[in-house]
Parts: sequence; C-alpha cells; structure tokens
Amino acid sequence: MIAQPKPHILFTRDEVEATVNRLAAEIRQDYHGKNPLLIGILKGSFMFMADLIRLLDFPLEVEFITLSSYGRGRESSGQIRVVKGLGAEVKSRDVLVIEDIVDTGLTISFLLDYLGQKKPASLKLCALTDKPSRRKIPVAIDYLGFTVPNKFIVGYGIDWDERFRYLPDICFVEVEN
Ligand code: IMP
Repeated sequence: MIAQPKPHILFTRDEVEATVNRLAAEIRQDYHGKNPLLIGILKGSFMFMADLIRLLDFPLEVEFITLSSYGRGRESSGQIRVVKGLGAEVKSRDVLVIEDIVDTGLTISFLLDYLGQKKPASLKLCALTDKPSRRKIPVAIDYLGFTVPNKFIVGYGIDWDERFRYLPDICFVEVEN
C-alpha cells in the first residue's frame, strides 16, 4: 500500500466556482456569436471544462485532445506527443484551448504551435491555474483562473498519479519530485 499524501486546500470550492464564473463572463463577452471551438486537454481539464461550458449560453463546439508529456511521473519529459487527436477541423475556427495547469509551459507551447499550424482564425488559451515559478518557455495566458505557488496541485480534475481528481477544492500535496 503506497502512503497517501494528505491534500491541503489552496482554493475552496466556492472560490473555484466564483473564478469559473468570472472566466465564463470574460469568455462570453469575447466569443458570443463566434461559434468557437473549445479544446480541452485531457485528462486534467475535464471538470473545469464541464463547469465552464455550462455557463456559456451560446453555440460552441467541444473537442478534447490527449497529449503525452508526464506519463505517470511528475516531471514533464519535454517530449510531447499527440496521443489522441481532434475530430474537428481547426482551420478558420476561433479556437480556445482549455488547460488545467501551466507549469514549465512545454506542453501548452507544443499544443499552441501544433494548432497554429492548422491556421485557425484565432487561437487563445484559458488556464485554470498557472505556476509561473517553474516556467521554461514564456506562455501568454488569455484567461487565467488562479496563480499557484510551486506546489504539486491536485483536485478539481487534477491528479497526482491518477489520484485526487475527485476533490471539489483545488488542493496541494507534499510530494517529492
Ligand atoms: P508543463 O508542460 O510543465 O507546463 O505541464 C503541464 C501539464 O503537467 C499539466 O497539464 C498537468 O497535466 C501536469 N502538471 C504540471 N504541474 C502539475 C501539478 O502541480 N499537479 C498536477 N499536474 C501537473
């Protein structure tokens, strides 16, 4: 039996709800009438994406993409691949990428380059959390939920080796890298 680190609350479910509401209001203002294509990065963004889109009361399309970067480890390998791609055309679409956490920036930089090559009409990024202290590549986040300290984040869809996704609050765990 592997010892379970204890999750500590960083942002409560009420703070998360208020922040998702704020982000939805910003996105609604910018994308209303544009039929945007929202692309969630699996698996970490699924809960955020579900809460966000039910607050967007206008036509939009949803896609998910699976990238490999971390595997089951905790450190980005820097070798990023598309494991499961998109079912929708990106060309000429207003694309909004939904990410759970921007850490080194390697994953999202790869994806923005990959999508940019498909010639979308516009390409923006919405991230639930940002850990700027670990950045290796600069990333422009158009819609940001929370800035987080250099801790391992779990909960609200975000995992530590597939654990803790179910937690309704955004938490951190003390783990060794
Ligand atoms: P990056 O390529 O280093 O920016 O890492 C981005 C991805 O790594 C995120 O989408 C997460 O899947 C994962 N990740 C980075 N930091 C954390 C964390 O603190 N908790 C859980 N997953 C993380």
